[in-house]
Amino acid sequence: MALGSIPTFLLFISTFFFMVLGDDAVGNSVKYPLVVSTWPFKEAVKAAWKAVDGGLSAVDAVVEGCSTCEELRCDGTVGPGGSPDENGETTIDALVMNGVTMEVGAVAAMRYVKDGIRAARLVMQHTEHTLLVGEKASVFAISMGLPGPSNLSSSESIEKWTKWKENHCQPNFWKNVVPAGSCGPYHPKGKVDVSEECTKTNLMGVAELRSSHISPHNHDTISMTVIDKMGHVAVGTSTNGATYKIPGR
Ligand SMILES: *[C@@H]1O[C@H](CO)[C@@H](O)[C@H](O)[C@H]1NC(C)=O
Repeated sequence: MALGSIPTFLLFISTFFFMVLGDDAVGNSVKYPLVVSTWPFKEAVKAAWKAVDGGLSAVDAVVEGCSTCEELRCDGTVGPGGSPDENGETTIDALVMNGVTMEVGAVAAMRYVKDGIRAARLVMQHTEHTLLVGEKASVFAISMGLPGPSNLSSSESIEKWTKWKENHCQPNFWKNVVPAGSCGPYHPKGKVDVSEECTKTNLMGVAELRSSHISPHNHDTISMTVIDKMGHVAVGTSTNGATYKIPGR
């Protein structure tokens, strides 16, 4: 930006903020609550809005919103029945953060329990920990009252996985392993040549690969932010992870 245009720019910014604040003649009650979500997951936003507009906290509204997506299996990327791993199993990752206390609760690679975001809230509110994983997360969630153990597979996830197996387990997330073009078990490919790894062409290749990965077809999942009537912020996310991931990811 040319130096001369900075005052104009600042003027624009201050005008913009004035307009936003100008709408808010009566204080926070007018500006909040607020619900923002990734993707057009309207039912999730509606559920969060209903919760927060009815007086629930930002944390509880985030949980209601993300939980709705888990139930609806939004895009097949949230909740049970989607994104089979290499073993054909669906597992759940979720996180919630309270913006007032800065507490975080999360579960990862949780098996047999559908309610990811509720499990994350239980970790946050009833433990001194931040993250529980795998089968131990499931045991915790069930012991704290969530339903399970449940079968998280669906006919769609099993069908997807069967086709992937038939396609020699391609695509997958392995690298520098043998065998390259077929199903495992995989083994390290031996010594990776460092000088070859660092050639300009290889680095360019990685950069191109990464940028070509950014589109609605390769990232998904609900992430949600809520500001409640008190002006308190909470954020959360819930997903069943990457399709054909290596179990444990
Ligand atoms: C889980 O559900 C899937 C899909 O309906 C089914 O194919 C599979 O057999 C079930 N697994 C168990 C252990 O019941």
